[in-house]
Amino acid sequence: MYLVHWPKSCADDKEWFEKVKQSWELMEELYEQGRVKAIGLSNFLPHHIKPLLETARIRPMVDQLELHVGYMQEYALSFLKKEGILPQAWSPLGRAKLINDKTVSKMAAKYKCTNAALLLRYLNQRGIPVIPKSKSKERMKENIDFLNFRISDDDMSYLSCLPERCWSGEHPDEE
Ligand SMILES: NC(=O)c1ccc[n+]([C@@H]2O[C@H](COP(=O)([O-])OP(=O)(O)OC[C@H]3O[C@@H](n4cnc5c(N)ncnc54)[C@H](OP(=O)(O)O)[C@@H]3O)[C@@H](O)[C@H]2O)c1
Repeated sequence: MYLVHWPKSCADDKEWFEKVKQSWELMEELYEQGRVKAIGLSNFLPHHIKPLLETARIRPMVDQLELHVGYMQEYALSFLKKEGILPQAWSPLGRAKLINDKTVSKMAAKYKCTNAALLLRYLNQRGIPVIPKSKSKERMKENIDFLNFRISDDDMSYLSCLPERCWSGEHPDEE
């Protein structure tokens, strides 16, 4: 899978769309030549994607966004759903800052799972693929073993409605 990493080189990049359009045309060629299996975007919000959809021959297949409990970018998610573009979650554990969150710990104890498993299962139940990162073999194993329990609808709602937390501070339109 090959992605455009950010829509802009900096927040006030006036030429951003022309650059994205050129990149996308080359990525379409790579896809058509069979050199990559999927092409997509990362950190693109609806207002970055809309102009691309007007000019692209091949629609983006994926948009990799910062998505985790406490930062779910719901407006972007509903736009992606409407357009048939798959969201993928970067920093699904909030760069480990969410691991010791009190609400997460309390709910993980209820489900008798680790805090990381709860965070990953939440995204999985929202239909969002996750890419957690770990240097540790044990934690890598933990991070693919989260399908042996199900979070109730009420707890999914609870986790979806928490106040914002553990945002990375990275945003394509702001310095
Ligand atoms: N597209 C983009 O703009 C973008 C931006 C940021 C990140 N990403 C990608 O997203 C992926 C993950 O993001 P990330 O590394 O920022 O955040 P993350 O996966 O949410 O968090 C990684 C941190 O969590 C710890 N961790 C991992 N598994 C754990 C577990 N089971 N229990 C406790 N701690 C655990 C890791 O420490 P240990 O290593 O010590 O386990 C590391 O400190 C990476 O592949 C990264 O390249 C993409």
